[in-house]
Amino acid sequence: MDTVFEPWALFMKQRLILAGGSGFLGQALAGHFAALGWDVVVLTRKTSAVNTVARHVVWDGKTQAGWTREIEGASAVLNLTGRTVDCRYTAANRRLIMDSRVDSTRVLGEAIARCASKPRVWLNASTATIYLHTLGPAWDESGEIGSTPEAQDEFSVEVAKAWEEALFRASVPGTRTLALRTTMVLGLGRNSVFPVLCRLARFGLGGRMGSGKQFVSWIHLTDFCCAIEFLISRDDLSGVVNLTAPNPVPNHTMMRMFREVCGVPFGLPAAEWMLEVGAFFMRTEMELIIKSRRVIPGKLMAAGFKFQFPEMMAALRDLSARL
Ligand SMILES: NC(=O)c1ccc[n+]([C@@H]2O[C@H](COP(=O)([O-])OP(=O)(O)OC[C@H]3O[C@@H](n4cnc5c(N)ncnc54)[C@H](OP(=O)(O)O)[C@@H]3O)[C@@H](O)[C@H]2O)c1
Repeated sequence: MDTVFEPWALFMKQRLILAGGSGFLGQALAGHFAALGWDVVVLTRKTSAVNTVARHVVWDGKTQAGWTREIEGASAVLNLTGRTVDCRYTAANRRLIMDSRVDSTRVLGEAIARCASKPRVWLNASTATIYLHTLGPAWDESGEIGSTPEAQDEFSVEVAKAWEEALFRASVPGTRTLALRTTMVLGLGRNSVFPVLCRLARFGLGGRMGSGKQFVSWIHLTDFCCAIEFLISRDDLSGVVNLTAPNPVPNHTMMRMFREVCGVPFGLPAAEWMLEVGAFFMRTEMELIIKSRRVIPGKLMAAGFKFQFPEMMAALRDLSARL
């Protein structure tokens, strides 16, 4: 993509729009970019601010209104909107999970299309769950997409496809678009699985889950934020990008590492029927535990991105020291 040199841009603060930026990833990114001197704007349904480093602007995630002014001339737009998938997939929750992602993407695309001065780049959340359940070789961005009854992931893959379709269907010439196929982000915030798995390990429940052979792909929150900064800065990168550390591990290895960082010598394994019961009472879905996600960051590695935490053990040690 050709970029025009605009000298006055050197004196203006870069502006990042974080749609759905009031949650776990949005709060971390707001802090990261504010520290870099960016002007951060969070689009939220909440009327009271959750984050002091960003300016909050109210939207509903589905219709055009006053918030669209914020997009005009922004340096980057990042859409993180989505009803959490950590819930039971009732009909009502399925609708919210799907609509919150597709509607917010559609409405941002329409707003960007109308801008006189379009953002240079639009990154939209997606998920590495889009790839086929596998115990075989890891998937880079050319990996196979699809669902299997074994992984119970039909709905999630359907959502991921619709989400990316809404992004790539948008007509936004001049704006680079990226779908972020993100894996489990390990951090300390609300909604992160790290504190949850630490608690399980401390209660003696940190054994393998099911067969324990299913792969877990993950990324440390610091690498997630740095990767977003990297993707914004690199005009040559677009399309789908895997946001994940280069070394996925089997579930039994991950649980051993959690036991180690928590200083617990043993952990009861959980058979699949126990996981079914546990998932029901914890109001979550089996797919989040049993699907084998073996995904690697093909494009990030080829582009020379350096991970601070390429190995899970170092990531867990870092987080547990800060817990
Ligand atoms: N965290 C991970 O490990 C991970 C991994 C892969 C992909 N992702 C994806 O990345 C995105 C951000 O993740 P996150 O962990 O930061 O999620 P989060 O903490 O749940 O934040 C998502 C935000 O979306 C907004 N939202 C929720 N339900 C909505 C609805 N029905 N309509 C409109 N907006 C709604 C909320 O903002 P307001 O209430 O302020 O409006 C919320 O703060 C999500 O789309 C998620 O699926 C996350």
